Amino acid sequence: MLNEKIAKLLNEQINKELYSAYLYLDFANYFEDEGLNGFAHWYEVQAQEERDHAMMIRRYLIDCGHRVTFGEIAKPDKVFKTKLDPLTAGLEHEKYVTSLITAIYAEAFAAKDFKTMQFLDWFVKEQGEEEKNAEDMIKKMQLFGTEPKGLYMLNKELEARVYNAPATAE
Ligand code: FEO
Repeated sequence: MLNEKIAKLLNEQINKELYSAYLYLDFANYFEDEGLNGFAHWYEVQAQEERDHAMMIRRYLIDCGHRVTFGEIAKPDKVFKTKLDPLTAGLEHEKYVTSLITAIYAEAFAAKDFKTMQFLDWFVKEQGEEEKNAEDMIKKMQLFGTEPKGLYMLNKELEARVYNAPATAE
């Protein structure tokens, strides 16, 4: 069993990850509406990865002997004025998620809960990658997405993203 505070934070993180999936699907909805199916696809894959994160944490809690409980998933309420807006909102969101993972890690460190620290190592690395992906998307959009041909090519590139389930996900 984990200490109560760590178990509670991990349980809350399941909700945050599912909200992330919901948020990225909302981005995908926006891009579908804009006629950019490659961008929409990229965020659909991202949503799938977020669901995986939720499932990994759920499984960890269960395997540690904890009862998982669910709360409401918040409604994504972002309004986008430009095609760059979801991309910057994505980076902002990933930075927020990194701060949540870091906070749980700090609790585990304080409690000498090495098992949870080891479990969270994967998430720390993943957050680094997700922030980098979000930054890259913004850079590419700023470089190429401001004129139609560049936007078309970028959309094509994003359409090619392949979903890979993490080795440890259910
Ligand atoms: Fe599960 Fe995008 O962090």
